[in-house]
Amino acid sequence: MLKALKNVPGGAVSPGDVLITGSGRGLGLELALAFAAGGYGVILHGRDRAALARAARAVTALGARCEVRRADLRSRAGLAKLFRLFRRPGLSVLVNNAGIHCPGLPLEKVSGPAVDELIQVDFAAPVKLAARAYAAFAARGRGAIININSVCALEAHPRRAVYSAAKWGLRGFSAALRREAEGTGVRIADVYLSRVMTRPEFTHGQRADETARRIYSFFSRSRGERLVLDGRPRGRAR
Ligand SMILES: NC(=O)c1ccc[n+]([C@@H]2O[C@H](COP(=O)([O-])OP(=O)(O)OC[C@H]3O[C@@H](n4cnc5c(N)ncnc54)[C@H](OP(=O)(O)O)[C@@H]3O)[C@@H](O)[C@H]2O)c1
Repeated sequence: MLKALKNVPGGAVSPGDVLITGSGRGLGLELALAFAAGGYGVILHGRDRAALARAARAVTALGARCEVRRADLRSRAGLAKLFRLFRRPGLSVLVNNAGIHCPGLPLEKVSGPAVDELIQVDFAAPVKLAARAYAAFAARGRGAIININSVCALEAHPRRAVYSAAKWGLRGFSAALRREAEGTGVRIADVYLSRVMTRPEFTHGQRADETARRIYSFFSRSRGERLVLDGRPRGRAR
């Protein structure tokens, strides 16, 4: 481990390694940089080889240790590759960040395969990863799981029924697991976001680097369970 953080106020988990899904680009990459700056060793994950290589260079430029795992969250083999990581005693944080961006569509226009993919990547994969991480962390009496979610899990949004189903499902899972984790030393935290400018076509919303820094600060400086970052102008939030 590189430079370790001294005692973190609020008794937060002290640095070890973090696995961040979907961290070759977007918010996941910014989270990787924030954790690296905080002294964590980072395991980057995604599918895009070139993006992951660029992300690894950016993380190591901060002086942090960095590894890369390419794995498709839709496949059993991909998930199994990530499950193996939780055997490592140094891996103490899982950030379930990977997700699929889907433009708003009337439900009748959403295909069956698109439903399967969204439920797999935004709901089933984070649940399965959290289950493995939780078992390992609880056995060691320490660790944290952060589920990156959306304000779509707090409100009802037309034309986003399937995305909402996945995100509401993840919210319910997280809340139940938090109760189950009481007394184990494992922290379960949720982050609910409105639009973050992670793509060129997202011309309004919260800055991705700032959002990641706020998430890292919430994680490292508090024992909070839930962070809502809603950058919408008043009146646009439901
Ligand atoms: N951006 C927003 O406005 C916003 C708002 C609310 C919530 N969120 C949530 O925040 C999280 C990050 O969003 P983002 O905007 O940063 O997303 P993004 O830029 O679209 O990046 C998504 C990440 O997920 C990975 N991913 C997608 N499908 C995958 C699969 N089948 N297997 C493995 N990795 C896969 C991608 O990896 P590859 O590119 O390598 O495939 C990529 O690294 C998501 O959970 C999203 O729902 C975002």
